[in-house]
This record gives sequence, structure tokens and C-alpha cells, in this order.
Amino acid sequence: MSEEIDKARRHFLTVATVVAGAVGTVMAAVPLVSSMEPSARTKALGGPVDIDVSKIEPGSVVKAKWRQKPVWVVQRSQPTLAELPKNDSLLRDPTSDQTQQPPYCKNAWRSIKPELLVIVPICTHLGCIPLYRPEPGDPGLGTTWPGGFFCPCHGSKYDLAGRVFFNVPAPLNLPVPVHRYLNDKVLRIGEDPLGVHSSWTSPEVW
Ligand code: FES
Repeated sequence: MSEEIDKARRHFLTVATVVAGAVGTVMAAVPLVSSMEPSARTKALGGPVDIDVSKIEPGSVVKAKWRQKPVWVVQRSQPTLAELPKNDSLLRDPTSDQTQQPPYCKNAWRSIKPELLVIVPICTHLGCIPLYRPEPGDPGLGTTWPGGFFCPCHGSKYDLAGRVFFNVPAPLNLPVPVHRYLNDKVLRIGEDPLGVHSSWTSPEVW
């Protein structure tokens, strides 16, 4: 009789242990799953944003948002790129010496891929959003207009690399955010080419 009680007790303990283990596994899994979701705080701080750039036509712009700020991706044609150096003598900072872009975009195009300009279109004068006016000789901007960005608030002008012209109130080039390409199609805003958030930041924008 006491042997039967012992057996029954052993069986109960075994079942209880297995159930307790299963509950523990489920309970442990819940925080793991929720920790893989980006937290509201991470979203608010601005995690990376991916953009498909494979279908942007030359001359077109794709608009996105990162860290509550607009980001534009402009596809520039080869003729447009060839014209850029002609603006240099008319610009405040033609060689991008001011820290308005990460180091890997301090070049003639202010971009990683020459044809794709990635900018934060916030005028460096007082923060208006400029208009995208890519057509050279745009009727509203005069025959010498080379194509670029025009801020109607107080008349600041930028070329198609986001470089500011002389004789306008804006002091600096348009900012270029940290970014990298995951592959031929996908541009990621918010990470530098090493795949981590860059230590570079522009004091003028963020
Ligand atoms: S805010 Fe753009 S020119 Fe003043």
C-alpha cells in the first residue's frame, strides 16, 4: 500500500514539474518576443527607414520621413551630374567643407551613388521646405537657373547637389542624412555604410 502511494506521489511530482517547466518556457518567451519589437521610444527616436530606389526615374524625387523630418531622394541624370561643377564659382560652399553631410558624402555629388542625392529638404535659413525645381531655365527662376531647390520663403536657392548659392539668406548647404545601400534596390536612411548609426551628426539639424 505505501509503495503504491509512493508511486502515485512520484507520478504527481513528475507531472507537476513538466507543467511548471512548460509554463516557465511560455512566460520566458513573451518578453523575448516583445523585446524584438521596436519600442515606441525607438520609433520616436527614429529607427532606420528603408526606401526602394529601383524605380526612381531620372529627374524624379521620392519623399520619405525619418526622425520626424522629411528626406528626399533625387535621381539625377548623367547630363545633370556633368553640369554640377559649373555652379561651383556661384556657391558658398562648393566643396562641402561645412559639416552638412557625413564624411562619405563630402564629394562633388554630395552622395554615395552619384546619381542618387539624399537630402533633408529643410532650408538652412529659417527652416522652410524648398521647392524642387530641377528644370534649367525654369520660367519662374530665370534663364540662368541651373536646376535645383528654391525656397520661396525668402528666396534661398540650392543647386541639384543641395549646395547653397551666394547672395541668398541661407548660410549652409542642405543637410545630407546618414545612409547606406543594403543592395541595388534598397536605401537605408539612418545607418552609415558600416551598418551602424554614425557618430557623425550635423549640429544644424539634429
Ligand atoms: S527659410 Fe528658406 S529662405 Fe528663409
